[in-house]
Amino acid sequence: MDNAWISVSAPVLLCHAYLATDSITKEGLQSFEEYYPNIIYWSSIIVRLADDLGTSPYELKRGDVPKSIQCHMHDSGASEEEAREHIRKLIDATWKKMNEDRIAKSPFSQIFIEIIMNFTRMAQCLYQNGDGHAVEDDETKERVLSLIVQPIPAPK
Ligand SMILES: *[C@@H]1O[C@H](CO)[C@@H](O)[C@H](O)[C@H]1NC(C)=O
Repeated sequence: MDNAWISVSAPVLLCHAYLATDSITKEGLQSFEEYYPNIIYWSSIIVRLADDLGTSPYELKRGDVPKSIQCHMHDSGASEEEAREHIRKLIDATWKKMNEDRIAKSPFSQIFIEIIMNFTRMAQCLYQNGDGHAVEDDETKERVLSLIVQPIPAPK
């Protein structure tokens, strides 16, 4: 997990997002330099686990490193389905921690906290059907087209 949470790129994306907000503070910037605030850590864990649930069978076939599901199977002797269930429960438990940290004292504005929450929700939604990139699927393509390309019908 020490490597997994940082390698999912959520900390980098959220750091960039922070710089794009209009509520940058010295404490906020320092927190990225010295340690990552808990809420960013939890967000990254959720994105990592959702990514693993979404793409692991295909990535393993491509010869990628073992993911959280395989690690849990190896550690506990669980079946793949049991391991997936375990990871889903971990995601739920991590959301609870995130919700606690959302109202805890932090150097961040409410807007940035909301950006972190939305980013995490978006990632979980994106990985629901694979990642739509390493493994192309119609569902992700449809969602992107619907969001960006297709016009939103205006009420008459
Ligand atoms: C977060 O998502 C909600 C629901 O889609 C939206 O109303 C809100 O404006 C978003 N907040 C930010 C800061 O992007």
